[in-house]
Amino acid sequence: MGFSHRSSNPAIDAFFDHVQQSKGQFMDVGTAYGHYTLEALKRGGKVVAIDMHQQHLDDLNQNCPPEFLSHLTTVHGVFPDEITIADHTFDGILLSRILIFLTGPQILFGLRQVHQWLKPGGRVYIVSGTPFRRDWFPLRAIYEQKKEQQHEWPGMIDNLWSIAPDMQEFFPNTFHLLDEMTTIRVLSQCGFSLISVGYFPTKDENYMDRHENIYAIAQK
Ligand SMILES: C[S@@+](CC[C@H](N)C(=O)[O-])C[C@H]1O[C@@H](n2cnc3c(N)ncnc32)[C@H](O)[C@@H]1O
Repeated sequence: MGFSHRSSNPAIDAFFDHVQQSKGQFMDVGTAYGHYTLEALKRGGKVVAIDMHQQHLDDLNQNCPPEFLSHLTTVHGVFPDEITIADHTFDGILLSRILIFLTGPQILFGLRQVHQWLKPGGRVYIVSGTPFRRDWFPLRAIYEQKKEQQHEWPGMIDNLWSIAPDMQEFFPNTFHLLDEMTTIRVLSQCGFSLISVGYFPTKDENYMDRHENIYAIAQK
């Protein structure tokens, strides 16, 4: 499901700074190969890593250096519906390249859950894809049209495979591209105070298009 990254961006950098300074409790939703989880463990955090694919979690447990294993908990399940966490548990929650798989109502429910799971003052770190990636241009036209019609979720595509059959290999049929306006609105609806939001990269680089990703950092 999609692609896993090791690269840094404003949300990931801020997440790691938070881990390093607080050495507190963190959650990584959609951890995949666990690159970000392992780095957070190295920086002194205790991490709950979640993924819907058990194989990823098995690999993560195997690849985790023994000295960090007592600080790692892996949870198999689909976010948000199958995840149960006590309120006020985490200092920070990372949602990197995971909201793309959720419908609008699931994003809303998921961020409400994240808000409850965070301690007061805790932060959510979001990274996601936008409609501005050039090789996804058929999706951009749909987004622009829905935005024009003031659709609540302009970046939600519910028939991806018929619009872009080549994407079937990597993505489910429901696919959600986020823009700044929607991200800011949903964070506010869920009770967060926005700290920072923006598109990246700001210029074309490393095979990435300008503004093909969005990041957001918000506080409970
Ligand atoms: C595109 S990868 C992102 C990996 C990593 N977070 C990153 O930013 O590089 C998405 C991962 O999320 C998992 N995933 C997708 N939807 C999920 C859901 N609703 N609940 C839990 N895991 C999910 C997939 O199995 C995959 O490992």
